[in-house]
Order: sequence, then structure tokens, then C-alpha cells
Amino acid sequence: MLNTRSSRFFTAQNYSLPLSTASAITFAFMQRFLILFLLVITLGACRNNTEKPTDMHAEDPHSFARPQDAAVTHIDLDLKVDFATHVLYGKATLQFDNKSGTRKLHLDTRDLRIDSILLDGVQKTTFELMPSQPILGSGLLVDVLPETKSIDIHYATSPQAAALQWLEPEQTAGRKHPFLFTQSQAVLARTWIPLQDSPGIRFTYSARISCPAALMAVMSAENDTSLHTDGVYRFNMPQPIPSYLMALAVGDLQFHAYDSRCGVYAEPVTMPVAANEFVDLPMMISAAEELYGPYAWGRYDLLVLPPSFPFGGMENPRLTFVTPTILAGDRSLVSLVAHELAHSWSGNLVTNATWNDFWLNEGFTVYFESRIMEKLYGRDYADMLTVLSLGELQKTVAEMGNEHPDTRLYIDLTGRDPDEGVSDIAYEKGRFFLLNIEQAVGRERWDVFLNQYFKNHAFGSITTEMFLADLEKNLIQGDSKLRNIAIRDSLWVYGPGLPTPFPKVHSAALDRVASAASAFIGSGTLPDTAGWTTHHWMQFLRNLPADLGKDRMAALDRAFHFTDSGNSEILCQWLELSIRQGYAPANAALDAFLLRVGRRKFIKPLYQALCDQPAGKERALALYTKARPAYHAVSVQTLDVMLGYVPK
Ligand code: BES
Ligand code: ZN
Repeated sequence: MLNTRSSRFFTAQNYSLPLSTASAITFAFMQRFLILFLLVITLGACRNNTEKPTDMHAEDPHSFARPQDAAVTHIDLDLKVDFATHVLYGKATLQFDNKSGTRKLHLDTRDLRIDSILLDGVQKTTFELMPSQPILGSGLLVDVLPETKSIDIHYATSPQAAALQWLEPEQTAGRKHPFLFTQSQAVLARTWIPLQDSPGIRFTYSARISCPAALMAVMSAENDTSLHTDGVYRFNMPQPIPSYLMALAVGDLQFHAYDSRCGVYAEPVTMPVAANEFVDLPMMISAAEELYGPYAWGRYDLLVLPPSFPFGGMENPRLTFVTPTILAGDRSLVSLVAHELAHSWSGNLVTNATWNDFWLNEGFTVYFESRIMEKLYGRDYADMLTVLSLGELQKTVAEMGNEHPDTRLYIDLTGRDPDEGVSDIAYEKGRFFLLNIEQAVGRERWDVFLNQYFKNHAFGSITTEMFLADLEKNLIQGDSKLRNIAIRDSLWVYGPGLPTPFPKVHSAALDRVASAASAFIGSGTLPDTAGWTTHHWMQFLRNLPADLGKDRMAALDRAFHFTDSGNSEILCQWLELSIRQGYAPANAALDAFLLRVGRRKFIKPLYQALCDQPAGKERALALYTKARPAYHAVSVQTLDVMLGYVPK
């Protein structure tokens, strides 16, 4: 880790207050006291009227920022990308609105080296970097004047910055050039930019990025799609976004356009497959717009990353980042694109105010994703995906335990890593809650509500309480019978487990696959797989029992070549089954998969399955030790804990 403090700067331990600062703090304290007092009064009043407050400021337990005092409104970055040292360095200019006339601007940083800070581009100022905390990093307190409009922060990132993954050429598809990408959600933006790292704070941004001349830089902003021979790229993001949507990637990239507003970036060797996989993108965007209103962000492009990308997708505005593991060749995994696209409304336009409200981002998005899939590919197809997801949700709840506090939609993550809230609960229990409302009020009314919801809260943030108040005001409107069927927030939002009655979903196609699986288990009859897509196969594999036996495994492999599957979802499911069955012919494929792919959703269950086998922990650790250097910090963080890995 970098030494982020130096004797030149004030430190938390030896800091003595200048008189003016002391009185400013007293003032700030009194002001906070007053705000608190007013809040208590308001809350009391609300309770009497049985109305919930809708626009009070939500405290974010994962940020040191104090937006009620001073809020960042625009960031201009001027950064150099140094592949030799794995460092980004340069300057971030933060414009801010000093609402309270404060003399301290509170920012978030983690593992940053802060070199100097200037007020309004001219006057050097002092600052204090607080001692680093494990997840939150170091608060950066900058001495500003009530009239200060902007600060220039000269800084450098650490080679270990958790948001950044620096890839060697061998880790890319083309194997010729290095690659860099960022992953800022949830609280990692602060590891590459000093800023107010809270989803409740929005700002616009611009950037000048210089990188090696052979490479292309792209950001979650206006991109001009062509290679610049001088290696200098300029970006502009005119719509205000929360910090977790800051994104940058640099690599050997090409662009392929589908129409005038959407296309895909990929490495040249990946492009033929990538360009073909997402041809439905223009239709998808139109379908989303027909559902919930105009797309607000100008262009919508995709960026296909190298396989170490720890997620399936990340909804960086204007430029969704996706894993190459969705390139199945038959367009069967594009629901992930529908998901990231849907975030352009749920998440990017209307944003969870804190990570405690994360289910608002993801639950809405899974619901919206499903509506897009239905519109494009029909009800049966969408139902198939929903039924598969329900299976996952039930499995997750069973594993966590029906009474586990983290099976509630609203989770207080104070003092915890927001990553701990990322589970099927936020995504799937969230989606089924919304589906429950849809089924109770009818689609027509529900869609009217949602259209209004996205319009009313556009470019704003929302808490769980605000959403529930919105539901009451604009949908339930005092109808207690309806409220009791549709909402029951004490069960859905604040209660653990899965409520009953639960929304009904059904897929005749998957029922037939389940029967085919039973027949195979019973008599060894191979299924008639004519017309099967990825999701039929998933259902089939998931229906096979833990004691299927190696002969049946071998028969399946002979007939369907699972071990050689190029479809990551099918392969991963098959590999997990193979581990549990002790089916050795898949071992080499497992090793190769774990060494190449870093997508957490895939590798976590595989390592878990290994650990569940007698003496499997050693094999897991041996493989992990080899693969770990190529994994992103996000996956490493999860697997280190799971495997009890202690870095040397
Ligand atoms: N925004 C998430 C990814 C994320 C969540 C990153 C929390 C960091 C913290 C993204 O939209 C997402 O949900 N991705 C999913 C795919 C989706 C189809 C469920 C993933 O990566 O698996
Ligand atoms: Zn998502």
C-alpha cells in the first residue's frame, strides 16, 4: 500500500485547530444539531399524519462526504495511464457547491497518494488525510474558503487500487497489448479518483486521458469511437451521475456500429463474434423505451472486456461493460445486455440513495430486464428465464436460512462492505416483490406508475422509504385491501425469507425438460433435445442429482460434449456437477476455465464445490494460488475469505 500521509500535511493525530476552524466546527455542530432537531420534529409530524417523509437527505454510511455542507457538481480529470508502473496520475479538478459556507470539503479516497491541492487553480491549500479504514479508505478533508468554487487535486493511484485491473498482454484475447479497466461500484471509485463517493451525490464530468498511442481509451461518457494516433482522448459526460458510474477502459479496441446510436467495442480478434452476438441491440433499446420512456443518455454502446472481468456486466452510462463469457455464438445470453440496458432507467436515472437501498437498483432492473425479454422474444421465453431465476432464489434462501437478516430487501450495511448486500435477495426477491405488485394491480396500472416513477425521480436518488411512500401516494391511494395484497412491506421489504403467497410463474417448456431429466436419471434415456437453447440445458443439468454416477455423466458427455462446451453457463454448470460427481474427465477443462475466467458468479461456486469434496480444499487452494494473480480484486476479495487464503 502507498504511504498516503506525509509530515507536510496535518494528520488526524497531531492536528491542532486554528481558531477560525474551531468556530467553524462549533457552527457546523450547531447547524447539524438544528437540522437534527428539525428532522425529529418533521418525523414526529409525519407520524401523526401517517405520512412518510419523502425528501429528507439520506445518510450514507459508506462515505465521508457531507453533501449537505458542500457537494461536488463537476469533475474534470486529466490523467496519464502508465502501464509500466500500473499507476494513473495527474489531476482531478472538483467543482463544488459550498452550500453552508464550510471551510472543510469532505472527500473519499482509498490508497491514493495526494501530492498537492490548489484552490480555484491558483492558491495552494492544506489538507488532512484521515487514517485508512478497511472498506471506506481515508477521508480527505480539504481546507477551502466559503467562496472557493473548485479545487485541483494532484494525485496518483496505487498499483493495488481495487477499482483498477491492469492486464498483461497474455490476459487479453489478442495477447499483444496490455489492458486496463475500472470497476467503481460500489465504493471503489475512491481508489482511482478523490471524490464524494456516495450514490446520493451526482455530478457531471469531463476528462483528458493520455495512454500509449497504440491503445484506445473509452469512458462512461461521450466517446468518439476512433483511434487517436497521439494517444490523447477527451470525454464529456453532460448528464449528472453518481460516482459509482465513473468508468474507464484502455486497450486494443475496435468499434462496430449497429445503427446511429448503438454499437460495440471489442478487441479486434473478438470483434467478429461480438458484433454478431448483439445484433438485437437496436431493438432492445426501442423495446425499453416503449416500456418506460425515452433513453436519456445519448448513445448506448457495449464494451466486451477480457475474461478476468469480475462481473457479468456493469451498467456504466453510455458504455456498458460486459464479460466475454456471454459470447455464446447463438445470442442466447443477451438477457444480460437487457439487464444492463435497463439500468439506464433503474439505477442510472433513478439511483439507490445508499447501498442499503441496493435492491431498488437491482430488483427494478431484473424486473425491467424480464419485460424487455418478453417484448422481444415472447412470454414463454421470458417465463423460462424467470422460472430459472426463482430456482436460484430458493436455493439462496435455503442456503442462507429462512430467518437470516440478510434475506430482507432493506439491509443496514453500516460497518460492512456493501458487497455483502450483493445477492439473489436484492436481485430476485426484489424482482418478485415488484412482480407481486404487478400481479395485484394489473400490468396497465403498474406500467403507468413506473413511467411516472422514472419521470418524477429522473437524475435523483431514492431510498426504500421514499419508494414505499411513492407507491402509497401514486398507486395504493389509501386502498387498504389492495395494499395488503400488493405491498405487505413488513414481509417483503423488512421481513426475512420468501413471503406467501408468492407470485406465480410457470414454464411448460422447463417442466418438459425436468421430466426428461427424470427419465434420464431413472432409465438412462437420453433426452430429445431438438430446439433446446441454453436455458433448457441449464434446467436439465440443474435437475440432475448429486449421486447421478460417473457412468451417466460419461453417457451425457459422449452424447452432448459438455466438457468441450463453448457456452460458459452450460460449461460452468457441467463443471460444478463434475466436481460433485468426481467425474475426472472434466478436470482439465475445469483447470483451464478457472485459469482463464475471473467472473465471480462462475468461479465462486466452482471453488465451493471443490471445497465440499473430501480433500478438495487442497485442490481448490492449489488451483486458486495459480489463478489468483489473474483475478480482479473484487473476485480475490471474495475468494480469499471463502478459501481462507493468506497472501504470502
Ligand atoms: N451493477 C451490477 C454489478 C455490480 C453490482 C457491481 C454490485 C458491483 C456491485 C450489474 O448490473 C449486474 O447486476 N451484473 C450481473 C448481471 C445481471 C444479469 C444479473 C452480474 O454481473 O452477474
Ligand atoms: Zn444489475
